[in-house]
Amino acid sequence: MTASTSNCLAQVLLAAALLLLCIGAVSSEANLVVQGSTSVIPLVEGKDNNPRYVLDRAYKNVLQCSMYASNGSQLVNPKIDWQLDFNKTLDQRFTFVAKLSEDKKNFTSTMSIVRPENKFVANYSCRGSADGFSPEVGVAHLESQPLISFKVENETKSDVAVWPGQDVELTCVVEGNPPGTTEWRREKDDSPMGNDTASIHIKGASYDGDRGFYLCSSKNKYGVNSAKIFLRVKHPQAYLTPLIIIIVEIIIMAIVVAVYEFLMARKRKQAEADGAAYKTD
Ligand SMILES: *[C@@H]1O[C@H](CO)[C@@H](O)[C@H](O)[C@H]1NC(C)=O
Ligand SMILES: *[C@@H]1O[C@H](CO)[C@@H](O)[C@H](O)[C@H]1NC(C)=O
Ligand SMILES: *[C@@H]1O[C@H](CO)[C@@H](O)[C@H](O)[C@H]1NC(C)=O
Ligand SMILES: *[C@@H]1O[C@H](CO)[C@@H](O)[C@H](O)[C@H]1NC(C)=O
Repeated sequence: MTASTSNCLAQVLLAAALLLLCIGAVSSEANLVVQGSTSVIPLVEGKDNNPRYVLDRAYKNVLQCSMYASNGSQLVNPKIDWQLDFNKTLDQRFTFVAKLSEDKKNFTSTMSIVRPENKFVANYSCRGSADGFSPEVGVAHLESQPLISFKVENETKSDVAVWPGQDVELTCVVEGNPPGTTEWRREKDDSPMGNDTASIHIKGASYDGDRGFYLCSSKNKYGVNSAKIFLRVKHPQAYLTPLIIIIVEIIIMAIVVAVYEFLMARKRKQAEADGAAYKTD
């Protein structure tokens, strides 16, 4: 083997190595970049200030996710799929407008929500895909100060009625993003009922001690929100009123029936008397 052939072989090998490196750079290093926006939604005052702040009815163009290829290439069949909290699919209250830039290098999906629920103030994942690239996931943040609602036995309420002696559990549901702290207070004496606890338990509710409003407040970096729920412990004699109404109704009905029967009887007697009079004529 001559020096020149081995030199040539080395050059071929070098070229092949460079080519491989080059292909490697294109196929393994180019990827999709998916970026979500962050949007802070202002709340509006609640009805009768309870809760103090609530969500508005509609959000237009509230979040965006955009996507491009790291090597600046054009995107073919680009697509962005949104999910709530990484695994919940979105219903028809969510609408999306997709737009590919004129140079076809930047794809953007813009989300709007109508009739938003508290739980929609959250983090969304957007999964971007395009031909020739593996999918990538970005995160968009919809943020607000805390949102508050109450649950009693799994039903949303702002007022709950119990009999004296009954146990009751009040749950403060704090939503909004980022998550807020939770603090419970009894309104009548401003006494603390618990910090960072979602639920308070009232055992053997009493009319004098426990009836009244309970406040739940929450705080995050955007501010404070609060709401109150009324615990309506019925008066120990509360059953008397409906009982009296029922008795009075029964008496009235009995009188009506008696009067009617009396009148009918009199009419019948009159008719008989008339009949007798006719016969004797
Ligand atoms: C879906 O999301 C919820 C809350 O973010 C989480 O607790 C649950 O484990 C998730 N499920 C799956 C299958 O990822
Ligand atoms: C892509 O387009 C969106 C909306 O037009 C824009 O906000 C974003 O900055 C663009 N991204 C890039 C990398 O050009
Ligand atoms: C949303 O994401 C941020 C950080 O990415 C996190 O701090 C926050 O707790 C998340 N919000 C919710 C509601 O999970
Ligand atoms: C609960 O938190 C409030 C302020 O957020 C504080 O003033 C109070 O001392 C706390 N109570 C307890 C029992 O930790």
